[in-house]
Amino acid sequence: MNNMIELARKFGTPLYLLFEEEILKSCEKFKNSIEKNFGKNAMILYASKALSCVGLLKIIKNQNLGLDVSSGGELFTAIKAGFPMDRVTFHGNNKSEDELKMAMEYSVSRIVVDNNEEFENLLNLSKKYGRKINILFRINPEVDANTHKSVNTGKVDSKFGITFDQARKNIRKILEQNLVIFKGFHSHIGSQIFDCKDFQKEAETMVRFCSDIKNEFGFESEELNLGGGFGVKYTDENPEIEIEDFISSICLVLKKECGRNKMNMPFIYFEPGRSIVAKAGVTLYTVGCVKKTKNKTYVIVDGSMNDNPRFVLYGAKYKIENISEKNKSSNFKEVVLSGRCCESGDIISDGCFLKNPKRGDIIAVYCTGAYNFSMSSNYNKIPKPPIVLVTKNGEAKVIVRRQSYEDLISCEID
Ligand code: LLP
Repeated sequence: MNNMIELARKFGTPLYLLFEEEILKSCEKFKNSIEKNFGKNAMILYASKALSCVGLLKIIKNQNLGLDVSSGGELFTAIKAGFPMDRVTFHGNNKSEDELKMAMEYSVSRIVVDNNEEFENLLNLSKKYGRKINILFRINPEVDANTHKSVNTGKVDSKFGITFDQARKNIRKILEQNLVIFKGFHSHIGSQIFDCKDFQKEAETMVRFCSDIKNEFGFESEELNLGGGFGVKYTDENPEIEIEDFISSICLVLKKECGRNKMNMPFIYFEPGRSIVAKAGVTLYTVGCVKKTKNKTYVIVDGSMNDNPRFVLYGAKYKIENISEKNKSSNFKEVVLSGRCCESGDIISDGCFLKNPKRGDIIAVYCTGAYNFSMSSNYNKIPKPPIVLVTKNGEAKVIVRRQSYEDLISCEID
């Protein structure tokens, strides 16, 4: 705790801290679990949309994980981190022609095709460049996972993936034209999911679909990517997920369904993002003022929805502490933790209990490693905070520097 105050003093606030040890722990959990359940027949792809920066991707690379990128920018970051392209899968529901070309040029391992237009585009590019790419089709499995509507991706009418019937039409085309290497299917039912039954349903649906395709076309899917979405405990309202329990119960369903349908088990991918990095992150703020209104107390900090838009977007809750207040007997106050942006909605928590908060105190918001930096903005022309990696040896290393005012206008032309 004191150490975090020292880091706040040294690097200033707002500040994103990233604890390497936590990242390594979660990578180990996933790696051990797939090894135990699938042997060499599965791979973990870290979903870099959760947090993408060169310093982190180097850690992920050294853990021998694969990578999911979903834009040219995420791919570029992976290239800069020296990530082996034969471990990179390219996603996205509207990849531009330039992005597809980039993916081909750098020979990413797999492209996950999300819609018919993209498929046509890809066939044309393959013809034009004489390159055969490995593809998977993203299927909408019509599994309605129990999670926030903004991060539910696999139910009927989702903007992601193609329907079972559209997939059939495309498969006919692939097998006739032989322009791409068709490896199998992908699905991702959403994010922050705690009910393992949702993943089991997804696994069962996808194996049955693979079996139908085998019976109809004689095509056996070599690979099946089941996406990410494992829930993370942010506060006591969330359960703690045991990754091994989830992976092993999904594996059982896969084995059972493959057996029933007389299919070989495809090579399996999982794409966790949040569950790899969320717990490794802590955001530190300094209190600027404490303001009382008729019914509320606002604790206003030097950060904002710019560095953490998740309450605004999803009503997300966090564990929050005043780490400057050591006095055991001091009172907890229910407060609204608010940011410094010019709008009333700029809230980080609409009700948290802080010990005797006052100007100058350091506030820690825990579990901010995923989808905070990666969704940050410069509203009100506020520079983005730096990311300081606390290495496993306890050293503090800036891996993303704080933006300067010059950075803020660096793309502007007068
Ligand atoms: N694979 C695909 C195709 C995805 O779209 C995603 C997340 C993942 C894997 C990783 O899911 P995870 O394991 O991180 O749950 N901004 C939201 C989360 C959006 C998730 C988008 N896709 C949030 O802050 O909660």
